[in-house]
Amino acid sequence: MLKDIARSVWSNAYAPYSKFKVGVAIKTIDGSIFSGVNVENAAYPEGTCAEAAAIAAMCATGQREIAEVYVIADCKEPVPPCGGCRQKLAEFSKPDVPVTMATISGKEKTTSVRDLLPGSFSNDFFTEI
Ligand code: THU
Repeated sequence: MLKDIARSVWSNAYAPYSKFKVGVAIKTIDGSIFSGVNVENAAYPEGTCAEAAAIAAMCATGQREIAEVYVIADCKEPVPPCGGCRQKLAEFSKPDVPVTMATISGKEKTTSVRDLLPGSFSNDFFTEI
């Protein structure tokens, strides 16, 4: 289950600077599951988000289409993906792909990629590819 995987990798996030661990699990359209955590760095801007890590793991296997996303962190309200991660998720998702945001204490809120990033830029705008 996506929730269990996101929760289990969450503990392994490397966030010694912000102390804000994030865990993500992504299911692709063939049912495979990929996970990721945020990985910070002493050179702060070099840190990477959990969503980016999960997407990179997915791409490394050749998969390109997300079916479902689960994001978890230890906060009061379900954790929303940052702006950059919304764009990264949109690259590999149809607009109605569900994104569940969660807290370690058990709160959940499910939305969609479309609702997270309305009016998004995509490769549809390229005149030539
Ligand atoms: N973070 C994520 O991993 N994903 C998000 O969508 C929100 C923010 C991480 C980045 C940084 O390591 C920490 O949370 C605090 O911003």
